[in-house]
Amino acid sequence: MLPAMAAKPQIAIVGPGRLGSALAISLKRAGYEISEIVSRNNAGSKQRARSLARRVGARVSPGDNARLGADIVWFCVPDREIASASRQLASIVSWEGKTAFHSSGALASDELNALRRHGASVASLHPMMTFVNGSIAPLQGVPFAIEGDKAAVLVARRVVKNLGGEAFAIRKQQKAAYHARGSFASPLLVALLVTGEQLARKAGLSAVEARKKMLPIVKQTIANYEALGPAGAFSGPIVRGDAETVGKHGRALTKTPEARAVYLALARAALRYLPARNRAQLKKALGR
Ligand SMILES: NC(=O)c1ccc[n+]([C@@H]2O[C@H](COP(=O)([O-])OP(=O)(O)OC[C@H]3O[C@@H](n4cnc5c(N)ncnc54)[C@H](OP(=O)(O)O)[C@@H]3O)[C@@H](O)[C@H]2O)c1
Repeated sequence: MLPAMAAKPQIAIVGPGRLGSALAISLKRAGYEISEIVSRNNAGSKQRARSLARRVGARVSPGDNARLGADIVWFCVPDREIASASRQLASIVSWEGKTAFHSSGALASDELNALRRHGASVASLHPMMTFVNGSIAPLQGVPFAIEGDKAAVLVARRVVKNLGGEAFAIRKQQKAAYHARGSFASPLLVALLVTGEQLARKAGLSAVEARKKMLPIVKQTIANYEALGPAGAFSGPIVRGDAETVGKHGRALTKTPEARAVYLALARAALRYLPARNRAQLKKALGR
């Protein structure tokens, strides 16, 4: 075995879902041995674990039968399950000398207190990236917010570096706000786009056509946001001060109340945070 390989600890993944699958594959590519995929004790979960385990050369165990011989146990279960899954695994092995991670963006490492009490060093490390079924997101340059016990944080920083990510320290109290901010960058961005799709039929398009026709402008907007910043990337009737056009939009949206509410909330936020002409008329057009 190469010396660099020998230095890398074995990792067990608990939860073969979106993050667990992407991480297991990325960790394997980065030279880590994935020893075990721990699933729930139901057919669907075990099946998902089996297909992931095949890809990364790991064994599969349902939670009540986990071996947990790895140096690092990484909980990739939903936020609400982290504390109970760690309690379930706390008395299966000795945790002295082991490291346990979870990757919730909003919750602190304290969710793993059951393992801490059994001697594990614990940390939370959250990648600011979206993981979905059918796509392995690259981790190069992805920021990982880390907090927890000193020893676990050191291990976490090394793993993140080997994955190509950028580790940074976060305070427990800052996590919820940081994670809420992240919601705007991916899940709520998708929610915004799908809300826009509700207007497709009114505009004479199917949802699929509307999606296809919107993609060039969505991609260019993100590119402009990156290159020019928010003010430089902001175009449309608000920055121009075309209050009548904004009023027309409001009327066109009366039959899609959710889309109207989202439009008004975002247009008011734009008036507050972005450049605009004719602010008084725009405010009036927005019902303020
Ligand atoms: N997805 C993302 O973009 C993303 C990004 C950053 C951080 N995270 C964090 O990653 C964690 C997992 O999120 P996710 O999106 O990957 O969720 P997910 O796709 O729902 O996957 C969760 C997995 O955990 C399994 N599971 C649930 N309880 C378990 C238990 N007690 N023992 C073993 N496995 C259990 C589930 O089994 P079943 O298949 O039977 O339901 C499922 O396979 C969360 O803390 C989340 O905040 C996610």
